[in-house]
Amino acid sequence: MREITVGLLGCGNVGGGFWQLIIGARHHLAAHKNLSVDIRHILVRDVNRPRSVAVPRSHLTTDPWRILEDPEVDVVVEAMGGFEPARTYLLEALRRGKHVVTANKVVMARAWDELHEAAQASGACLFYEAAAGAVIPVIRSLPGLSAAPVRAVYGILNGTSNYILTRMAEGLSQADALAEAQRLGYAEPDPSDDLDGRDAAYKIALLAALAFDWSPDLDGIEMKGIRNVSTEDILAAQEAGFDLRHVARAERDESGQVKVSVAPVELPPGHPLYGIRGVENAVVIESDVFGAVTLKGAGAGPGPTATALLGDVCRVVDRLVWAEPSPAVSPAGAAADVAAGAAAAASAAARWRGESR
Ligand code: NAP
Ligand code: HSE
Repeated sequence: MREITVGLLGCGNVGGGFWQLIIGARHHLAAHKNLSVDIRHILVRDVNRPRSVAVPRSHLTTDPWRILEDPEVDVVVEAMGGFEPARTYLLEALRRGKHVVTANKVVMARAWDELHEAAQASGACLFYEAAAGAVIPVIRSLPGLSAAPVRAVYGILNGTSNYILTRMAEGLSQADALAEAQRLGYAEPDPSDDLDGRDAAYKIALLAALAFDWSPDLDGIEMKGIRNVSTEDILAAQEAGFDLRHVARAERDESGQVKVSVAPVELPPGHPLYGIRGVENAVVIESDVFGAVTLKGAGAGPGPTATALLGDVCRVVDRLVWAEPSPAVSPAGAAADVAAGAAAAASAAARWRGESR
């Protein structure tokens, strides 16, 4: 049996969902992946807070160093959200050769270069499938598809907004629809990220980075959310035969510039995003070479997001089994840390190849 030890940052909607999936799917993981996942520690803000999942109190900690300094922790799974302290913890983990799997689009979009450089330097994996589109495998698809020139990537990327627009069309107020989305675990810790378009902007920035080798420039994104969309707007669009949806779009223009926007858009029947309802998300990748690829599925919620996290943990395991560790590339001034991180990643890889444990 292959064993992997995880340090989990966060035990809210997503972290709790991850815990539950690991417990509920352990026989499946053993039978189908020959894998046992041990969640050793879980970082939270308040160990006494009542939780919807039955996590043993002994696993909970408010001390991030119990995870970052534990040599047994192979993978740090991050589901706490926000920029800091998530950025610092993920950089620390990568520098120490720990693999990182994150659902956090804010830290990925805002510290894209820094996190990738740290991962490259130590040879640790940095995976973030859960950060855009939850269970939709778009992050892992884009590097392959963008082997051919991509013209545009666009989609419905915020499950909460799509859920709210769907429920408003059924007669709910925006506030009541948001409260439902929060109860279902779809909304961001600060739901204004959903309502004002920032969440979708972070996600399309990640997709644009992968599709166009673009360094995320969040200030350059034209951003409009659904906060000011009224029931009348939705019904008027419907009466005219359109679907009013929140669409994120990135395209490269003829001069090579990447243009990124998020806004409510009226979609005609036949449009690839027409008919996407509730928490569902969809992403279209267009190219003059391969045409269009459309991916869709649940874009938020504990189960779908935990599945993407676990899929990335399995990718780490596959990498450890099959791949040689990457050579360390030392940025100036960090050579010793990098060498230590690379040594830790190399030793983890060696363990996985059966050379030692
Ligand atoms: P959440 O329910 O608010 O949970 C956040 C968790 O992180 C809580 O357990 C909290 O501890 C812990 N935490 C936050 N800040 C912390 C800090 N400074 N130190 C220690 N612990 C801290 O949020 P969520 O909905 O699970 O979202 C988590 C992340 O997943 C976000 O990046 C979000 O964008 C992303 N995501 C969410 C979804 C979704 O459907 N919800 C889908 C995809 C991605 P306490 O419990 O003690 O407060
Ligand atoms: N709040 C986000 C959404 C969670 O509703 O899409 C998934 O990233």
